[in-house]
Amino acid sequence: MSANPAPAIAILGTGSHVPQNVVTNADLSQRVDTSDEWIFTRTGIRERRIAGPGETTSTLATEAAKAALADAGVSPGEIDLLIVATCTPDTPMPATACRVQTALGLSDRTACVDVNAACTGFVYALDMAWAMLATGRYKHALVIGAETLSTVVDWKDRTTCVLFGDGAGAVVRGKAREGSRSSILDARLGAIPETNDLLHIPRKDSVAGEATAAGCIAMKGREVFKFAVRGMEEIARDLLARHGISGAELDCVVPHQANLRIIDSLAQYLELPKERVFVNLERYGNTSAASIPLALDEARRAGRLKPGSLVLLVAFGAGLTYGGALVRW
Ligand code: ACO
Repeated sequence: MSANPAPAIAILGTGSHVPQNVVTNADLSQRVDTSDEWIFTRTGIRERRIAGPGETTSTLATEAAKAALADAGVSPGEIDLLIVATCTPDTPMPATACRVQTALGLSDRTACVDVNAACTGFVYALDMAWAMLATGRYKHALVIGAETLSTVVDWKDRTTCVLFGDGAGAVVRGKAREGSRSSILDARLGAIPETNDLLHIPRKDSVAGEATAAGCIAMKGREVFKFAVRGMEEIARDLLARHGISGAELDCVVPHQANLRIIDSLAQYLELPKERVFVNLERYGNTSAASIPLALDEARRAGRLKPGSLVLLVAFGAGLTYGGALVRW
């Protein structure tokens, strides 16, 4: 398949925001029977950010959005589409996007919606925004991945509480203009049937048989691990094959930051040196839908994405969902 024939829709700017409160592995070892050594060798995580009083998914999303708007040079009044990818909305309704709309002072002509595809949510939202912008009916989209996973973690369950963190990342998308940063060449989304219970947040009234507390993340870690490795490889292979590109031609891979062993295995599969794979997992843990936009923003600010760079975004998450996007920066 060739590149999308529709008008080039660029990523005009990126931004991110994390809570100030840092919780280290040593801090966690005071609360549950774990150690920095266990957590780091199994996951690559050293610390994570945890939301403090007054910080919610929508407040983190709003700050990330402000940074992305400033980077893009786009004013809030120009945004007519706002998609927030999250599995930890402030409330089941209204959508977190509506709260962000109010906080940013966006106009009443802004379409506002949340997307939940767990850790793959941002890649889904990015592709949905692309499709909506390509119709020409929307001009500028804010696409945000934001989470406060700390609110759905069982802090007594050492098998999950060491893995997750809070944060937000955002991009502004719009028609490519001179000096525009990037365009998405292609994207692929999917979900694996019959894997719903491998990673989920059971309703508070339906926790029979779960080892985790009511309303908290429950996960079959080893099985998720295997699906994640296979799923990320499959998406990468498929997207690259569709464009006749080899892994070695990628300048940067920005993978979902869940586990360093999963990321290393992807790098090995793509035959890519580690320095071409962007990793910030050690400082934030798994921030679900926020992980890719947060990493993308840090990669940009670190000068890892140069004009013309070929970049692969690739994610998997609860569902199990998976998705990837090939971006020319
Ligand atoms: N500290 C110390 N020991 C621990 C901890 C901990 N925090 N957690 C588990 N253990 C123990 C277990 O009890 C077990 O002990 P046992 O052998 O006496 O029974 C032992 O360590 C090994 O446990 P495993 O679960 O088999 O460890 P594994 O090597 O599989 O690593 C991990 C666990 C890190 C969770 C891994 O399976 C993983 O990363 N899976 C993928 C998870 C993931 O990516 N989830 C996010 C998906 S994205 C989304 O949508 C949110």
